[in-house]
Amino acid sequence: MCGIVGYVGDGICKQFILDGLARLEYRGYDSAGIVCIDPKHNHFVFQKEAGGVSLVKKLGETARFDGHIGMGHTRWATHGIVDQKNAHPHFNCDNTVAVVHNGVIENYEALRKELLEKNHHFYSATDTEVIAHIASDLYDSTGSLDGMCTALVKKLHGAYALVLMLEKEPTNLVALRHRSPLVLAQHDSSVYVASDLSAFSDKASSACFMPDDSFAILSKNSVKLFDFEGKPLIPMFEPIDKKYIEIDKGGFEHYMLKEIYEQKRAITRTIYFCRLIGSKNGQYTDSLVDSFKHSEVNDEYSDQIWRHLGLSKDQVKRLKNVVLLAAGTSWHAARIAQFFFEMVAKIPCQVSLASEFRYMPFFPKDDTAYIFISQSGETADTLEALRLVNSFELPTVAITNVASSTMVREAGGFLPMQAGPEISVASTKAFSTQMATLYWLAHRIALERNTISWNDMHEAEEDLFVAAEILETVIENYKIKIINELAPKYAQYERFIFLGRHINYPFALEASLKLKEISYIFSQCYPAGELKHGPIALIDDKTPVVLFSILDDVLYWKIIANAQEVKARKGHLIIFAFEGQHELIDLADTLFIIPRVKPLLAPMAMTGLMQFFVYHITRVLDRPIDRPRNLAKSVTVE
Ligand code: M6R
Repeated sequence: MCGIVGYVGDGICKQFILDGLARLEYRGYDSAGIVCIDPKHNHFVFQKEAGGVSLVKKLGETARFDGHIGMGHTRWATHGIVDQKNAHPHFNCDNTVAVVHNGVIENYEALRKELLEKNHHFYSATDTEVIAHIASDLYDSTGSLDGMCTALVKKLHGAYALVLMLEKEPTNLVALRHRSPLVLAQHDSSVYVASDLSAFSDKASSACFMPDDSFAILSKNSVKLFDFEGKPLIPMFEPIDKKYIEIDKGGFEHYMLKEIYEQKRAITRTIYFCRLIGSKNGQYTDSLVDSFKHSEVNDEYSDQIWRHLGLSKDQVKRLKNVVLLAAGTSWHAARIAQFFFEMVAKIPCQVSLASEFRYMPFFPKDDTAYIFISQSGETADTLEALRLVNSFELPTVAITNVASSTMVREAGGFLPMQAGPEISVASTKAFSTQMATLYWLAHRIALERNTISWNDMHEAEEDLFVAAEILETVIENYKIKIINELAPKYAQYERFIFLGRHINYPFALEASLKLKEISYIFSQCYPAGELKHGPIALIDDKTPVVLFSILDDVLYWKIIANAQEVKARKGHLIIFAFEGQHELIDLADTLFIIPRVKPLLAPMAMTGLMQFFVYHITRVLDRPIDRPRNLAKSVTVE
């Protein structure tokens, strides 16, 4: 993970770097550091800080220097504890080469051993520090930055986005990219580099995503790009999507709360966007999305959608399988979507955790669509799974919230969710828009295969709008009660059990993840039918059981039986039930009643209330809700 930001130009760089780091803190906030070249003496000046909520602010106060060239880093610890020594930048023995790194150097122990034998000494416990030492030796032996880079990449195994500075090259920044993202930008005489567009999207108007396995030598007014063999490449600059300019909390206490309340609109926009994406003129604009009408859907549209997804109409008709790959909350959305593909499109669907899939036997099938789901489009496990499938030249589709992400660039096609930037580490509106996108896509595939009619398709879209509406209104129904009574009460408990069945089992998994992730309260989730096979031993009056009902005539009675099993053992039941489910409602100690929706949209209807409940429990506990400990928004290491 980690965030990198660098600057070279006529301007002064410290404030730019600090602003960029503040925007990249979602990538890690264990420590932060900054290095510049002092313009008077051509020497490095640097400062590092570890831990704390206002880390970058602290760095701004302690770093009392500036320059025309510099770089900064915000860290999510992989190798070496969280302390100042392990904070980036790292240096070679005589502090003349500095490096910041996002990724993992897998062979760093062997490299470190080699360097120790050559009398190098180390200051930190990180994998990164070896890079500064090796780069220093290679610069001395090759006498040039490009010579240093082509030799350096042959030594390093793993994934890395690197920016290097050398005192002997006081006007140049060197950026290298292998499997971790780096983006460049230019504006007047200034040149920028960062892990993510958001670091400089208010300063520059166009940006160039460094291709994988490339390096760049940056100086004021100049960007020189090369492949790993040292062959020059033409940097392709594209306009920056301005929606990545910093977002504020809009009057809410936390981004998470704001994002919970943005879900209805995000889902609505996502559906409009899905309909529009292949429409006649093919151009998506905000006003078009907001004014879209059913009548614009026609046959021409139907072809273009598949081109956008990197599939042909024929391929869609012949699909025998859908494989969904993701991590964390996105994996929960995928597990929910399995029901959409199997029950609506009638296509067998397998769901894998990207981190497991990569190391399992793989049986490539060309009648399968491989769909990669990720809020950020940068999650290393999911990206590596995508690369594996791509290597077999199979159809791959990315569903992400960031249209400029690596996943979108590398997949055969993509379908972007319209959640808008999600800042809080806990995924909320990304989760609901993932469900919406996948529900829409399953129906659209079913339509193409004549499994459903155009009428069914339109009805599905309307059902999504209804579920989005309920997601929001149901929060209002319980708002006061949750804030005044329920959150203070449940914040006292030390552990929770979550239960769900069928489509609401993965939803219960998501609820359990949300609670543990932000509140640090221990929680376990089981399919409700598994309770009697072991977990029932945990039931007591100190462990509330959160049970999610379902809109299925058969399974509803099974859920009641599961609730009875809990009550019979003096368990405490928090039930999310649907209107009219009196038999279940009667068993609740705490009750949330949700208006009825289409059965497959039950998770979506419950999403907002579940998130709101968990948010307020956490608020009572006074945790750093938007930035829970040990986490980062984008997990860019395996
Ligand atoms: O960006 P992605 O959707 O690929 O991220 C996957 C997970 O890291 C992410 O969903 C994580 O589990 C969230 N913190 C959950 O709230």
